[in-house]
Amino acid sequence: MTVPADLTPLPAREAYRLWADSYDAENPVTILERDCVRDLMPLLRGKALLDAACGTGRRLPDAETGGARRVVAVDLVHEMIHRAQARRRTPRALAVADVRALPFLESLFDIVWFRLAAGHVPDLGDAYRELARAARAGAYVIVTDFHPAAASAGHVRSFRDARGTLRVVEHHIHDVGVHVNAATRAGLTLERTIEPAVGPTVRQFYVAAGRLAAYERQRGLPLVLALLFRA
Ligand SMILES: C[S@@+](CC[C@H](N)C(=O)[O-])C[C@H]1O[C@@H](n2cnc3c(N)ncnc32)[C@H](O)[C@@H]1O
Repeated sequence: MTVPADLTPLPAREAYRLWADSYDAENPVTILERDCVRDLMPLLRGKALLDAACGTGRRLPDAETGGARRVVAVDLVHEMIHRAQARRRTPRALAVADVRALPFLESLFDIVWFRLAAGHVPDLGDAYRELARAARAGAYVIVTDFHPAAASAGHVRSFRDARGTLRVVEHHIHDVGVHVNAATRAGLTLERTIEPAVGPTVRQFYVAAGRLAAYERQRGLPLVLALLFRA
């Protein structure tokens, strides 16, 4: 059986419009990313958190159960924000906005997330400038990205649209140094780096897909780059 595929990379705005309905299905990248951000997270109780590029808001419950005082989330794509709104449990502010032009005054947040979206931005300078501007002095800024080693090894950001056609999302490879330079120029200081790789935590996904041979080949390949900065 042939699998229908349109492998022309779609710009993020178009891609996530098509992906919004099925986006919440987890995969090895999202599970590794979720777990390492939980490891990096400072104490949330009483803190104000911004989730920049929140997608469907699937990580917001982590912020809320952690006792954040205020949770604000933005995303470029209306369809993704709409889904975040539908899962709303506690009061929070949601808006459609580009991370490169955040609609906030400066120094409002104690914790800022920018998770799995950096690769959709061709030049990270504006994004880091805005993340740093939104952060209070001493705030934590957590940035995660599809790992450059995974992208160089040929892994792509892909999904199936409502018709079952395989689609690829435009992705720009940013090495660690590119992240750190842009962050440093914005006034942020790197505190920790985590690079979770293919291993037992995500083996179940390969088993379910009948791809154990790929699992063995990819063991040790980092899929996620996670950076903890201090403002
Ligand atoms: C892979 S999803 C990650 C969503 C969420 N952070 C998560 O971890 O589940 C990437 C998200 O980035 C958003 N995005 C892409 N470019 C953006 C930009 N310039 N400003 C804000 N959001 C953007 C997309 O619309 C999409 O929802």
